[in-house]
Amino acid sequence: MRVVVLTGAGISAESGVPTFRDADGLWEGHQVEEVATPEGYDLQPTMVQRFYDDRRAALAHVQPNPAHLALARLEQVLGDDFLVVTQNIDDLHERGGSTRVLHMHGELLSALCRGCRQRMRWEQDLVDFPPCPRCGVAELRPDVVWFGEVPYEMDRIAFALERCDLFVSIGTSGAVYPAAGFVQAATTYGARTLELNLLPSEGASHFAESRQGLAGTLVPQWVAQLLGEGPS
Ligand code: OAD
Repeated sequence: MRVVVLTGAGISAESGVPTFRDADGLWEGHQVEEVATPEGYDLQPTMVQRFYDDRRAALAHVQPNPAHLALARLEQVLGDDFLVVTQNIDDLHERGGSTRVLHMHGELLSALCRGCRQRMRWEQDLVDFPPCPRCGVAELRPDVVWFGEVPYEMDRIAFALERCDLFVSIGTSGAVYPAAGFVQAATTYGARTLELNLLPSEGASHFAESRQGLAGTLVPQWVAQLLGEGPS
């Protein structure tokens, strides 16, 4: 069975990473336009660099939770028939043991050169605007897909959605496209669809089945059920 899982901020909430839309539409006290658009960066580059530097540094203080671990366990069984597509920019899937992960909205632990467009692993701050180690001149920015920019890995995601038998969405509000449209694409191609979320998402009606609760509880239950280990 081929399984594609889409994850959002809700899967990392129990690890202590704040979600986006559960706090008045503000992201850590900022309007999304200020910190998640190219225009916001052009207006206040130092503030935006500091914002993502803080998020990157905060990764050291969070750990994967049982939901991340359960997905890694499922990958061990299904191998190449399993794929995580995440909107999250944290590294908790990888630290939980997952290796088949596509970060469609980029990664905190990556920098993007505004000149040569090279992406590179980056663990330090960017607030001092270090030069690009590849081209030597241009400015490095967070390698995060902002509103108005094209998400990463769309070809591989489309290919996986076409071929999957089961599509599962975990901890995402279904408010941001193109990810919010994956359930309809998967359905069109014949997959069964399941949502695991704290509350019914904006797209809940598009799923064949929807379960409400904490990801740290629901995901291990669902994985155990899929692996035939007992009732959910
Ligand atoms: P949101 O903050 O929009 O939604 C998080 C969802 O997780 C909500 O539906 C919550 O009900 C649910 N949730 C919260 N805690 C949960 C828990 N413990 N267990 C299960 N579900 C829980 O986050 P995303 O949908 O990921 O994009 O947001 C999508 C994109 O919007 C982000 O990737 C980001 C943002 O702007 C960019 O930065 C480009």
